[in-house]
Amino acid sequence: MQENLNYKLKQVGIIKTPYQDDAPYQPIDVDDGEFCIVVNDQYVDGLNDLAKFRYIYVMYYAHRITREAEMIVSPPWAEGKRVGVFSSRSPLRPNPIGLSVVRVKSIVENRIYTSGLDVFDGTPLLDIKPYIKDLDSKTDANYGWVEEMDDMEHLILHIKGIPHNY
Ligand SMILES: C[S@@+](CC[C@H](N)C(=O)[O-])C[C@H]1O[C@@H](n2cnc3c(N)ncnc32)[C@H](O)[C@@H]1O
Repeated sequence: MQENLNYKLKQVGIIKTPYQDDAPYQPIDVDDGEFCIVVNDQYVDGLNDLAKFRYIYVMYYAHRITREAEMIVSPPWAEGKRVGVFSSRSPLRPNPIGLSVVRVKSIVENRIYTSGLDVFDGTPLLDIKPYIKDLDSKTDANYGWVEEMDDMEHLILHIKGIPHNY
């Protein structure tokens, strides 16, 4: 029988964004405002060479989730479609860990300035990894269940966090 283990994670920093109560569903590359990842002093050497990468993965703990995890979710942009949580980017997961890919603008000491992030100000940082060309982009990737939706082109704008007026 599988053991139900609990694990401890270290918070390695904090994410600063303009969003207090409302954040985009996914990162917006050309978002307004300052987005800064502040890494705790004891981990700052871990940032060596990171500025050589154009994009990074940012992993964080969605610390303001108050609702229980849901196994079936309906993304707000998905017109009522209900899908399994593991087929979604919903934060209502058993482990509310978020993953965002952002552009590195500059790194100054323990601060990484990035393109737009989709998190509330003060979100705990769990990890950073480089986004590596070819390794992290699959040319035959698809849109999964979104491909079955009538309004696919429109929904993809939501998935990509591209602002639009309709
Ligand atoms: C849909 S999730 C996507 C996160 C990440 N890009 C991913 O795909 O794993 C983004 C949403 O999580 C919520 N959120 C962001 N930061 C949060 C936090 N610290 N605590 C709780 N919810 C948060 C906001 O409502 C935001 O729109």
